[in-house]
Amino acid sequence: MSGDAASQTACETPFDAMARSQLPAWQETARHAASLERTTLRDLFAADPARGTRLTAEACGLYLDFSKQRLTGDTLQLLVKLARSCGVAERAEAMFGGERINVTERRAVLHVALRAPRSRQIFFDGEDVVPGVHAVLDAMAACATEVRDGRWTGHTGKPIRTVVNIGIGGSDLGPVMACQALRHSSDRSLTLRFVSNVDGTDFAEAVRDLDPAETLFIVSSKTFTTQETMANASSARDWVLQALKDEGAIAKHFVAVSTNAEAVAAFGIDTANMFGFWDWVGGRYSMDSAIGLSTMIAIGPDGFREMLAGFHAMDEHFRSAPFDENLPVLMGLLAVWNTTFLGSRTIAVLPYDQYLARFPAYLQQLTMESCGKRVTLAGEPIDPCAEGGYTTGPIYWGEPGTNGQHSFYQLIHQGTEVIPCDFIAFANSLNPLGRHHDLLMANVFAQAEALAFGKSAEQLAAEDCPEWLTPHRTFPGNRPSSTILAERLTPAVLGSLVALYEHAVFVQGAIWNINCFDQWGVELGKQLAGRIVPELESAEEPELTHDSSTNALIRRYRRLRG
Ligand code: F6P
Repeated sequence: MSGDAASQTACETPFDAMARSQLPAWQETARHAASLERTTLRDLFAADPARGTRLTAEACGLYLDFSKQRLTGDTLQLLVKLARSCGVAERAEAMFGGERINVTERRAVLHVALRAPRSRQIFFDGEDVVPGVHAVLDAMAACATEVRDGRWTGHTGKPIRTVVNIGIGGSDLGPVMACQALRHSSDRSLTLRFVSNVDGTDFAEAVRDLDPAETLFIVSSKTFTTQETMANASSARDWVLQALKDEGAIAKHFVAVSTNAEAVAAFGIDTANMFGFWDWVGGRYSMDSAIGLSTMIAIGPDGFREMLAGFHAMDEHFRSAPFDENLPVLMGLLAVWNTTFLGSRTIAVLPYDQYLARFPAYLQQLTMESCGKRVTLAGEPIDPCAEGGYTTGPIYWGEPGTNGQHSFYQLIHQGTEVIPCDFIAFANSLNPLGRHHDLLMANVFAQAEALAFGKSAEQLAAEDCPEWLTPHRTFPGNRPSSTILAERLTPAVLGSLVALYEHAVFVQGAIWNINCFDQWGVELGKQLAGRIVPELESAEEPELTHDSSTNALIRRYRRLRG
């Protein structure tokens, strides 16, 4: 990090494995958290009339109000000190500098290069990667423009009208989220569909009303080996060939996005129709790489570049702003504060914008595949029950408001769990309709207010609430939330919002001393499934050597299936 941020850093333990909880800054923060136990948000707001404007920060069109978090100015200073002690700035510089900070996969983590302007240089292993990034972007733009203009014709000469992205995890969730988020600026004459699940229903329902002659499949897979994606791609090929009856149709109806040219060619897709990326792009950090081809087709190359500019603006902010004004640093610290020091286990993300309906699902992979780790970078256990242990990644979940209000908000207001909330809202609707937007915004402001201040027994008494009903109608309040407010949901704002969470995850990882960029936890299930497939498919009754439960389930499945 440079400028202000660098001058603030005084790293006590940049990359070592010293237990985080032994750091003086950690211990001070823990003591401070205990001292705040009885302080409520009511107290804090009463003591400081300027709190609501003081505990805020703003960058890249995003205004962050974190005044309704359970913290004080001292907390903030301690958390900033903790971030410095944990080497957040040094680690960020190592990321931006192309070091192999994904130590278990020996990979660099350079998604920031995907949105660097042409004029920038970012080096990995002595090579500037930015020209390669822009070469792919240009190739994507050519493809997207041909499809949008109707110049990309299928095997029978009909223009492509439907684009189906086949991918899963990071090769699906980002494009799904972005295509929905930016639907307002998308080409409505094109239909975008997404197939991810290996459940055949996903593919069958996605294509049932489509004309193969007008359909283009984008097979998106970093590795091009993922079971689900390969199964869906193979069904797509069969579906196209069944209708068009000519292998030559594949070239017109399939493109690939991958780092694995060999596997793409082996599948039968011409590598001239392959859009590449690099192993320094993690799947969950790839929506702005070629994995975003479907997004670019939907919103056009200019819209996509606008989104990249939003990402880049947040990268620059993250790299240069002082920690106490730095949105990703603040968001990361808030997650650490709530999870590790105040004991919350989940964070709800509640966008008050229907276009962001899939944003929580997207964030689940970003945050939970990144921070769902139980050993340090050096491989030492982080056991929250052991002396000096601590909790790491919280569970992220959510739904758009106001729908969630009529479903799970009850528990957030009155349940026994404290669930910090991130509210996301926009001052202007992309679909102004009567009073709708003011109603929507009134609700988001009201929810944060109700969570923070609740409703006391005294207030209820003043409303003549019968005594027996009072406990049921009391809201404890003191429930933390942050509100992110932007002017409107544009491609640039979406880019900044995603980069905000990406870097907030980075900050959490640096503080918890974990590797946010690997995902070994998804491997075992894949391996076991690979072993079970032949046991399900064999004509002979297989000899099963699993545990008694798995054996019985497999036998029952084979029997029921007939
Ligand atoms: O199973 C987890 C995972 O490896 C994710 O990290 C990744 O986004 C997803 O699978 C898809 O991988 P690929 O793009 O290689 O098909």
